[in-house]
Amino acid sequence: MADQHPHDHDIVTRPAIAMAGTGCDAEQYAALYRRSLDDSDGFWAEQAKRIDWITAPTRIANWSFDPVDIRWFEDGVLNICHNAVDRHVEAGRGDRTALIFEPDDPSGEVRKISYAQLQREVAIFANTLKKLGVAKGDRVTIYMPMVPEGAFAMLACARIGAIHSVIFGGFSPDAIAGRVEDCRSDWIVTADEGLRGSKRIPLKANVDTACDKVPVKGVLVYRHTGGDVAMQEGRDHWYHELSADVSRDCPCEPMQAEDPLFILYTSGSTGKPKGVLHTTGGYAVWTETTFRYVFDYREDEVFWCTADIGWVTGHSYIVYGPLLNGATALMFEGVPNYPDHDRFWQVVDKHKVNIFYTAPTAIRSLMREGKDYVTRHDLSTLRLLGSVGEPINPEAWRWYYETVGKAKIPVVDTWWQTETGGIMITTLPGAHDMKPGSAGRAFFGIAPQLVDGDGKVLADEATGGSAEGNLCITRSWPGQARTVYGDHDRFVQTYFSTYKGKYFTGDGCRRDDDGYYWITGRVDDVINVSGHRMGTAEVESALVLHPKVAEAAVVGYPHEIKGQGIYCYVTLNAGDEPSEGLEAELRQWVRKEIGPIATPDHIHFTPALPKTRSGKIMRRILRKIAENETGSLGDTSTLADPAIVETLIETRKNR
Ligand code: WT7
Repeated sequence: MADQHPHDHDIVTRPAIAMAGTGCDAEQYAALYRRSLDDSDGFWAEQAKRIDWITAPTRIANWSFDPVDIRWFEDGVLNICHNAVDRHVEAGRGDRTALIFEPDDPSGEVRKISYAQLQREVAIFANTLKKLGVAKGDRVTIYMPMVPEGAFAMLACARIGAIHSVIFGGFSPDAIAGRVEDCRSDWIVTADEGLRGSKRIPLKANVDTACDKVPVKGVLVYRHTGGDVAMQEGRDHWYHELSADVSRDCPCEPMQAEDPLFILYTSGSTGKPKGVLHTTGGYAVWTETTFRYVFDYREDEVFWCTADIGWVTGHSYIVYGPLLNGATALMFEGVPNYPDHDRFWQVVDKHKVNIFYTAPTAIRSLMREGKDYVTRHDLSTLRLLGSVGEPINPEAWRWYYETVGKAKIPVVDTWWQTETGGIMITTLPGAHDMKPGSAGRAFFGIAPQLVDGDGKVLADEATGGSAEGNLCITRSWPGQARTVYGDHDRFVQTYFSTYKGKYFTGDGCRRDDDGYYWITGRVDDVINVSGHRMGTAEVESALVLHPKVAEAAVVGYPHEIKGQGIYCYVTLNAGDEPSEGLEAELRQWVRKEIGPIATPDHIHFTPALPKTRSGKIMRRILRKIAENETGSLGDTSTLADPAIVETLIETRKNR
């Protein structure tokens, strides 16, 4: 049994305002949670009733983690776009606002798109894709700025049964090419340029460079900034031109529940990013249900998730979750600190935001600027705050709760992953007291389990009690990823082989006696930089592509704002010398290979890396040195050359 942790008893009572809208209270949670495990089929059949099925499912769960084969609602037929858009119009709610667009430039034009308009826009977009040649089952790459057309493109794919693969605008041409090639996508939807903090992002030019490497059949270009772009005859089409004469009606394609909905690439501890595949029925039920209970949505409220649609958070809680619930979602093109550090609060005030969902890295960076930026705005419409993407330190939690929420409204810290499709562990606003720094309790249908390195069970919902270990989930849930696109073996290897028969999350976690989970961070070679997941192996491969680099080892280290920073140990080829110029060049090199989100914080040139006699790099030591924990390096006696450790400590970069 793990020792009690000092924070375990640090409880913030849920505010009275948190009485249920679409959420639930403590008693209901207990009953619903129990039923979700004891009568899983009954529970999910009932949740699934809020979805419009063309053919209602009779088989609810049908899954196995050994061998790995996951199906939910498999004989059901539906279209998720119909559920997110058309059915609200058909129910007479077409005038309700679906999306509010707040542009990068605060004086720019706000767009409010009603559900009826959304239906029209998505149908036109879908017909334009068809005109381009896109058919059911085709993969469509979407590389768009944070504008409503990005959401239209996703929904248009879903409408016609094409599989979208959205790539975040911060990724490089090489990253685009790799993803396009991996899922054999013949089509790309992009824009001339994106805007972030007044900077222009050359989206179309990046696509052009990617297509030089990996040719595609068609590129659809949405005119956003009006910036100059090259159009390649026969391949590139302006959206406004190609869409001009298409029909405004486009039927929704009936889809089997297990038909693919989207691919989303995410980093792992080894190799290239994986194309995580989500399917239609389970994902629809999961995002609808989690949005409904976690955010306790009430009619006409404005929900704002600050993520980008290029990440799973944007997929599930800007597009699908809110729209499936008929909610109003705000889409923000810009960044938290442009034109000034109060942009978030200015936007909350301007659009009367009720529910605000952001990442700890943003909270930490705004916290540093002082509370005046917050207090100068009227935030009285806020009713619920959410956090996602990385562990939130209690200090940032307190600031969020007290300065932004005025200690009056709940904060939900939601733990989940690209692979989980939606929220897995969280407090529910009307049901649970909060513990700053803990993600909270298991959501309906989720069975977390903590195991030790050998797979011995330390604690789960059945045993209760406190323990710290590796976080597994022992049963499937509807929103779970079904496979890695084109590589089911890799799916099995990555998630189900460390602990046979269980889904292994890659996270370390503590459970306390009250059943609250405290995520301690990744236990694999994945790091979390500003809430973005990064495989250290990816950064290493990028570095060793440079002609002067012999070897590279990349680790994370604690970073005040980003959560983790990227620390790179680099050895050079014989004859090449370290220099500040080369350091800058390598930083630039990684940006070009992967994208700005992977920019190294520190490049540490070293004559050698600490290796065992069998040649294995001892990452544990490299991590400790980068973390400045040099007093506790542990056993270094198995190193081929123990002296290298002293050299590394002396030349450490982030002192
Ligand atoms: C990893 C997943 C969830 C969507 C955005 C990130 C970390 C995520 C929390 C949280 C502590 C968290 C985990 C997880 N993480 N949310 N509330 N508390 N850690 O999705 O890129 O797939 O990353 O993010 O380490 O494994 P992702």
